[in-house]
Amino acid sequence: MMLLPDAEATLAAGRALAGALKAGDVVTLSGNLGAGKTTFARGLLNGLGLMEEAPSPSFAIVLPYERPLVSLPVWHVDLYRLDNEDEISELGLTDVLDDGCLMIEWPERLGACGWPSALKISLDATGDVPRRLTVDIPPSWKERCPFQ
Ligand SMILES: Nc1ncnc2c1ncn2[C@@H]1O[C@H](COP(=O)(O)OP(=O)(O)OP(=O)(O)O)[C@@H](O)[C@H]1O
Ligand SMILES: [Mg+2]
Repeated sequence: MMLLPDAEATLAAGRALAGALKAGDVVTLSGNLGAGKTTFARGLLNGLGLMEEAPSPSFAIVLPYERPLVSLPVWHVDLYRLDNEDEISELGLTDVLDDGCLMIEWPERLGACGWPSALKISLDATGDVPRRLTVDIPPSWKERCPFQ
């Protein structure tokens, strides 16, 4: 568990993950509305070299980032507005994984087609206490996850 006292700490946590990412990785970002998922993703994209501030994919659903803007291709995905698994399969999310990564907000929408090997990050923003980051680390991330 890690405390995130302010938005800058959430950005820094995202940046810290960037160096550990490899093609084929899936990172899921869970947490209530406004918990800081996009902020974390923005930090990660910045850590991969993106200079501008990444927008939220809430409306586009999938925002792809390619070289040379980033050092590793990433599709930043927000599934909040999707409500069935058919719509999700139409997004062709696995296409990026040969060469790059997926970073998925609202992974709960994946239902049965979730990725068991994903690094699962949760952001908790309940009450007056500082926000907290917790992580569920699959075997493929044991050696390289910067959060324990
Ligand atoms: N650790 C933090 N402490 C305080 N505020 C934070 C922290 N991290 C992010 N924020 C702020 O919380 C707000 C919401 O952040 P963000 O848009 O990243 O949330 P989200 O989880 O992506 O929301 P949504 O569910 O709508 O996609 C922003 O104003 C952001 O600056
Ligand atoms: Mg968001």
